[in-house]
Amino acid sequence: MAKNLFSGKFREASVFLDERFLYPEFIPERLPFREKEIESLAYCFDPVLRGRKPFNAFVAGPTGVGKTACVKYVLRELQDSFDRAKLLYLNCFEYNSRTAVLSAIANFVGAALPRRGLATDEIFSKMAEYLRKCGYTPVVVLDEVDQLLLSEANSKTLYDLVRIVEHEKLSMGIVMISNDTALTSRLDARIKSSMAEQTVMFDPYGPAQLKGIISERAELAFVKGALDNEVVNVAAAHAARLGGDCRVALESLLKAGRIAERANRPKVQLADLASAFEDVDAVSLLKGLKHLDKDELGLLQIICQNQPVQSGRVYELYSRGSGDGLKERRLRDILSVLEKQGLVEGRPISLGNRGKSREYHVRAPRQLLEKEIEKQLSAKK
Ligand SMILES: Nc1ncnc2c1ncn2[C@@H]1O[C@H](COP(=O)(O)OP(=O)(O)OP(=O)(O)O)[C@@H](O)[C@H]1O
Ligand SMILES: [Mg+2]
Repeated sequence: MAKNLFSGKFREASVFLDERFLYPEFIPERLPFREKEIESLAYCFDPVLRGRKPFNAFVAGPTGVGKTACVKYVLRELQDSFDRAKLLYLNCFEYNSRTAVLSAIANFVGAALPRRGLATDEIFSKMAEYLRKCGYTPVVVLDEVDQLLLSEANSKTLYDLVRIVEHEKLSMGIVMISNDTALTSRLDARIKSSMAEQTVMFDPYGPAQLKGIISERAELAFVKGALDNEVVNVAAAHAARLGGDCRVALESLLKAGRIAERANRPKVQLADLASAFEDVDAVSLLKGLKHLDKDELGLLQIICQNQPVQSGRVYELYSRGSGDGLKERRLRDILSVLEKQGLVEGRPISLGNRGKSREYHVRAPRQLLEKEIEKQLSAKK
């Protein structure tokens, strides 16, 4: 019996003109409120037009503030207007070892390396050989570069890249992108001065900026009238509360649109947005865990397992577990980091004549969070 599953009933009331405009990897024609950062990036690559080596750049700032989008935007412009520059974008979650990064660069400049069997030194000399004769300047973006710096062996990649540029005198530009604004202060001075000739910092967006940005994207993505201003405002305010993360705002609108569409409604409602927040927030919060250190993860784990829990009790449990004294001041700092990232929420409570305290609970689904904490803790052992 025909089930009529694909009779088009899902499409009667599409709220989207083209939902791809809301995808996180989409790079819009305009990136409002990032003129200054785009200008600084363009300055780094300008020397390429005069046949010189670009300045290596370090780009940092919190999550979802347009770092990847702006770097790609500027480098595409460069590539389109000047055929002697070519962009190689590597996300270090995927390219997370010295061999992976060097092989990718070597292959990019035409070395066609065999898939396995080459030692790092051989890959390095192939890379140098082909770079010398490729006839253009590759600009290599190492996005999420902290993933490459987790182990000492892989951190050597940065020395290889410095060697290419300083000793072999080959022209190549490097852009490192990270959430960790203090990353370069942990690098060896030589690496730092060579790899971070220019630093471009991205600040979080405020509510009004988020509103402007997502209104523009929503106008492209939604059918006229499918999205009220109010929905855009609430999405922007929510993202602002979560640290100015534009990705959260765009993803929430996309999910809300899909919910409305599935229910065959021609308009996105605030309730659709509220359901979308729940999913999107959980995912983005979990993503933030990778930047926490062991103490921060440990405290989060305690809150997760004992919530709702007062700060005094968190302190007690943590000292008992780890055996060493975490200074109370540090504990307070960590709690405020966790709160700022939206991972926990603290509310003031009164302890009667013993004064005041704060009581904490986690802001993501507990089981998911616990699993992710364990994963991160074992990766950081
Ligand atoms: N000024 C802007 N105008 C339009 N869209 C923007 C702007 N800033 C960010 N976006 C959009 O927000 C989303 C997140 O931006 P992006 O991926 O560049 O963040 P990021 O800073 O690289 O974050 P992460 O550190 O998590 O990788 C993308 O879809 C991007 O296109
Ligand atoms: Mg990024």
